[in-house]
Amino acid sequence: MDTKSKLDYRNKIILAPMVRVGTLPMRLLALGYGADIVYTEEIIDWKFLRSLRRINDALGTIDYLDKSDGTVVFRTCAKEKDKVVVQLGTCDPERALKVAKMIENDIAGIDINMGCPKEFSLKGGMGAALLSKPCKAKLILSMLVKNLSIPVTCKIRVLENIDDTLRLVQDLASTGISALGVHGRTISERPQHQNRNETIRMIAENLTIPVIANGGSREIESYKDIFKFKEECGSSSVMVARVAQGNCSIFRKQGMEDLDTVITKYLKCAVDYDNSPSNTKYCVQNMLKSLQETPRGKKFLECQTLEQICAIWNMDKYCHSKQLDYQLKGNLGRREI
Ligand code: FNR
Repeated sequence: MDTKSKLDYRNKIILAPMVRVGTLPMRLLALGYGADIVYTEEIIDWKFLRSLRRINDALGTIDYLDKSDGTVVFRTCAKEKDKVVVQLGTCDPERALKVAKMIENDIAGIDINMGCPKEFSLKGGMGAALLSKPCKAKLILSMLVKNLSIPVTCKIRVLENIDDTLRLVQDLASTGISALGVHGRTISERPQHQNRNETIRMIAENLTIPVIANGGSREIESYKDIFKFKEECGSSSVMVARVAQGNCSIFRKQGMEDLDTVITKYLKCAVDYDNSPSNTKYCVQNMLKSLQETPRGKKFLECQTLEQICAIWNMDKYCHSKQLDYQLKGNLGRREI
């Protein structure tokens, strides 16, 4: 069976890759609310290369654990197997392929980050640095497309000039990638800048592969707005980051749920998959935003364990019994701090 055809990127609403946010609990929450595809946070290739694959029977997950300290590099489970796309940070075709081969049977697709403007990525020749090295970018993508049984995509930012952008995307598409994610801002533009929806539209008109529009969070306040953004960009699909980070029920067709309900559901996923307290806290902080200033928010900020966090949403008993259960089943391995 040709597994490449399995994941179809047309007419999809997608959880965008977000560092620290796109870990397993958030991805499962997004799927539960109606997202069709979920991207992981960007994971740097060498982090995978220094990890070991472990089946975690207590949690029912597959874990990639750092060889030296046992921290979780990537945790996934059967529920997301056909919908999870791992986003890799890489600047090297061979290394990218080695990693992709390691994880190919556990995931639905691989994406290469070609949009990250952070100094760490740029200095390492990764992320948006690849936009100015189209030959290298193409080599990475061709290498993966030729050798993998799962679809390959990449996520870019737009260039200043529309002709350069169109040339670049034609080049990238020529490698045989299954879809192209486009954040409609340039490397130097920040989230407060207008997203270049018109540029995304021109890209979509120029390519035959599905284009996934991104950058619309400022315009998206409801489920319906996702489709307005899609219309405006003339894209096949939409990828949502910041709105989903703040309230993941944006993917819910029947309308958004209140924040406490969303946090409670998120915490259930975090407990069920033994997410680290620090990552859980970070994600909840991003949902609470200014509510961290309230008395309850301040109490939350003092929490250090998962059980303490859960207590604020009356889930401490659930958390306690689950954690006991995991201990009984034989430990989960070292935790990510
Ligand atoms: C991001 N973004 C991002 N992009 C990417 O390709 N890989 C990543 O790991 C991350 N990490 C990340 C973390 C956080 C906290 C945020 C807010 C954003 C960028 C993101 O995927 C998206 O391109 C932009 O946020 C624009 O889309 P929205 O937010 O307007 O929907």
